[in-house]
Amino acid sequence: MSWRKLSSDSLPDNTDESQEDTSRFVEPDSAESQVEASVDSGKLNFQFEAYNEDCVICGAKNSGKSYLANELLKSFNNITCIVWDFNFQFHDARSMLFHRLDDLLEVYDKANGKGRYILQPFDKSQQAFEKLCDAVFQRGNTVLFLDELHLFCSKQSIIKPFQNLILSGRPRGISVISISTRPASLPNSVLSNANHVFCFRLNIESDVKFLESWMGSEVWQLMPVDKRQKMKDAPILPEHTFYYRNQSDVNGVVGKV
Ligand SMILES: Nc1ncnc2c1ncn2[C@@H]1O[C@H](COP(=O)(O)OP(=O)(O)OP(=O)(O)O)[C@@H](O)[C@H]1O
Ligand SMILES: [Mg+2]
Repeated sequence: MSWRKLSSDSLPDNTDESQEDTSRFVEPDSAESQVEASVDSGKLNFQFEAYNEDCVICGAKNSGKSYLANELLKSFNNITCIVWDFNFQFHDARSMLFHRLDDLLEVYDKANGKGRYILQPFDKSQQAFEKLCDAVFQRGNTVLFLDELHLFCSKQSIIKPFQNLILSGRPRGISVISISTRPASLPNSVLSNANHVFCFRLNIESDVKFLESWMGSEVWQLMPVDKRQKMKDAPILPEHTFYYRNQSDVNGVVGKV
């Protein structure tokens, strides 16, 4: 695995706060909410504050999003995680696998919300997706991976149960890892709340332009050379390579897991 440091512009601040009473959820400065996770390699400085930070993973089809998300899941030791695994792509020996949300919640509730859970849903409807968002919002203290998010929300249609997680999940100890092929179609609040953004290869200009406003012009190197408007001299990135940016860092990093 190799890493190169790149310069880029700043990401916008995280500003969303909930006004609700969230006293039954972990305090932002408690020991539990400060659990940090980092990817195994040690070369990528990915310090993730579970239950307090959000993450976006985006890129074209087959670019490596689910593979990376699965690697992150495996590295999240002693952190409660639920995965909406729409395409049955997650594999983790230490996660419990379910096909029905009710079965998952029964075990989750008995375990007082401890453990790692993969939901490979038989019911892939919008309603099932929203039911999961609501269930996690009610319970709190969970890192929720949402794969294939573009199938369930867009800029045009505001999905309340999902928006609740993004806008008001943090005081409840909820982290959302949003995974999508179309960054430009994500509601703006998803990127504005994300502390960490990973972006793989992109083919659609509007996606690059949208991401550029959040991550800087380096994202043009994620396009095929003949479609780039900037970074034309940058090398073609190897397969499954991403551009990662922590919003609090000045520089982004090109890398691969
Ligand atoms: N870093 C990697 N090393 C080795 N193989 C990888 C890596 N990343 C992805 N792959 C392989 O590439 C293929 C596509 O990866 P993945 O399924 O993660 O893509 P994706 O972006 O989630 O695609 P989709 O949008 O279709 O869900 C898979 O077979 C996966 O195992
Ligand atoms: Mg995938």
